[in-house]
Amino acid sequence: MGDLEVLPALVAARWPGRELVVLGETGSTNDVAKERARAGAPPGLVVVADRQMAGRGRLGRVWHSPPGAGLYLSAIVPAPGVATRVPLAAAVAAARALGPWAPGLHVKWPNDVLAGDDRKLAGILCEATAGRVIVGIGVNVGHADFPAELAATAVSLRMLGATPDRAVVALALLDALDEWLPRADADWPAVRSAWCQASRTIGAHVRTAVDLDDDGALVVEALGHRHRVVSGDLA
Ligand code: BTN
Repeated sequence: MGDLEVLPALVAARWPGRELVVLGETGSTNDVAKERARAGAPPGLVVVADRQMAGRGRLGRVWHSPPGAGLYLSAIVPAPGVATRVPLAAAVAAARALGPWAPGLHVKWPNDVLAGDDRKLAGILCEATAGRVIVGIGVNVGHADFPAELAATAVSLRMLGATPDRAVVALALLDALDEWLPRADADWPAVRSAWCQASRTIGAHVRTAVDLDDDGALVVEALGHRHRVVSGDLA
């Protein structure tokens, strides 16, 4: 587990009493968090693993999860009024948390965190269960390289020149999630504006993307009409 070993002490010092589960190996930290939520675990509980054997991404994709390299973290959070805002608030949190190690980060709708050259540094998978939301975040931290199929599109903090311990990245991420997730309900304008500021989707990546709606849907203009994109991916 190496650089994850200090995480329990760091979390206990920062949030006394917060429940943290650190695993050497598991299928998916989202699944472990889901089981805990169904068994009554409170919001705040965090699951981290050194390695995932069945790491999942959005749209049925696999999340590359080798040991010793990535941060695989899932947090149980209260279900907000508008659940579709959570991934966007989480993306803002992740981009803010990782920014000090990788200047020039930006977000891509709905919740990818990309390096300046558009390679993917972090991904987010939010899943609802038992009246809670599981926010799962994968960050490429110490990878020296990626398998051939990801080599052109993925990047790690190490490849960007930063070598933080995964425990320190986890702490920064949890701090940022604590700050930004409650705002999905309490201060959506702040999340929306931070997301739009961090985004190259609005007005750039996708020529016709013009705004974020109140529930986090992407507003796209085509042939003089505005449409809402609520799920899927952008090329
Ligand atoms: C994506 O970009 O498609 C989302 C990737 C989410 C990966 C994280 S790693 C921790 C948590 N456990 C999983 O199985 N998936 C998420």
